[in-house]
Parts: sequence; structure tokens; C-alpha cells
Amino acid sequence: MALTVPEFTAIKKKGRKISMLTAYDFPTAHLVDEAGIDAILVGDSLGMVVQGKQNTLPVTLEEMIYHTQIVRRAVRNALVIADLPFPGGHESWPETLRNCAKIMKETDCHGIKMETSFQQKEMIARLVDAGIPILAHIGLLPQKIQAFGKYSMQKMRDELMRDALAVQEAGSFAVVLECVEPLIAKEISRELEIPTIGIGSGRDCDGQILVLQDILGLSPRTPKHAKRYANLHEIILSACQAYRKDVEAEHFPEK
Ligand code: KIV
Repeated sequence: MALTVPEFTAIKKKGRKISMLTAYDFPTAHLVDEAGIDAILVGDSLGMVVQGKQNTLPVTLEEMIYHTQIVRRAVRNALVIADLPFPGGHESWPETLRNCAKIMKETDCHGIKMETSFQQKEMIARLVDAGIPILAHIGLLPQKIQAFGKYSMQKMRDELMRDALAVQEAGSFAVVLECVEPLIAKEISRELEIPTIGIGSGRDCDGQILVLQDILGLSPRTPKHAKRYANLHEIILSACQAYRKDVEAEHFPEK
């Protein structure tokens, strides 16, 4: 049975840790779902891991819709969440509502992830009121990388706690904590009723999310916060090399 947004939020109360991964295409989304992962994020990280771009800023609404449609088609059980691409919730209210509704209508995803802060509290509340489940994302915000200057650990305890409480009060069903100093992430996780989903934020969040390519060994470098569970780079490379050699040696196709 497919998980629902309220069931996802309720996992925290049951005391079980939540697993999330990204996916951007049909075969991997299918496998992630089959593995029993609770939720799949079609992240705008696709700009970097699928499109080979420098950062997530160039990803468009149409590209998010295209990839989310593909993932949604592959998934039976997991929650499917789509990222709201740059500039996210910083458009006007009608434009933000239109963008979120367009993603929901055209992809049949279960909710939208939004990089945010206390400043978008009202925007989140209005989207939730419109029936759009919001997974808030605070801490390191890749869509603001030009302003942040670098990908670094976020240590401003009071600001992070203020953001976390604001997005909860606005009605977000969970919150991603990206690169939040682990002791602060622990305190936020204890303080909030909604689940915190950490990435690079230590072991005390209510759940974890990683980029699929990082755990499969398909990224050129595994980020410090990730763990490599397979080396698909090596496996795919040697399969392609074996095929090339077979073709050149006329061993494939066989007689
Ligand atoms: O875009 C993305 O994949 C993300 C996750 C890494 C949280 O924002």
C-alpha cells in the first residue's frame, strides 16, 4: 500500500527512523521503491548528478515535472516528493501557487520540497491550505550557493531553531536539515513534532536522505556526509569495456 503524507509524518511518533533517497529516472526509482525506502525525492540535485551542471540553479520547472512524471510512474509504495526549483518560494504568491499546483497536477506527486526559512512562513501556510503538502528544507540551501559562497556546515543555532519552528508552525509535514551542526540538529529534532530528515546533519535526525548516485558510487567524489554502498562506476565501466572488446574482436554478436 502506498504511504500517505500523514502516515509519513506519523513514523516519528512510532520511533522508527525514516529512509529517503533521491531518484530521477524509471529504473532506479523502481529499485529504490522495491527496497522499501519510505520516500523518494526528485531533487533539483538532478542538475548536477544527471545534467552535469555546476549547481542546481539552472534546473527548470519543466525539467522537474519531466523527471517527477518518470519517477512517479515507477513507484508503487514510497511517497514521491518533487523539488520546487530556483527561485523556489521567492516568486509572488500567485506564481508560487501556480508552479506548485502545476507540478502536483502534471506529475501526481505527493508533495513539494521547498528550500526555505522563517521568512516564507506565510507562503508555506497558504500552500498547505491549498492542499499542497510541503517538505521544508532549511540549513544549507544549495539554491543560495552563490550567496552562501561554499557548501559548509550551518552552526547558527538560534536562526536554525527559528526556521525549524516556523516551518512546523506553517504546516510543513517534515523538514530536511542540510548540513546542520549535529548537536543543533539533535536539539531541533527533539523540539519538533514533525520529522527532521538529515543530510550531513548527524545521526540524531528522525530520518536520513542521500543522493542515490552518491550511495551507488556513481558520483565522481562521494561527499563526506554520504556512504558508498556499491561501486557501480567500476561495474558499469568494466561491462562497457567488455562489450567494446567483444564488438572489436567480433565475439558479439555470436554466430
Ligand atoms: O536536491 C536534492 O537532492 C536535495 C537533497 C539532497 C536534500 O535537496
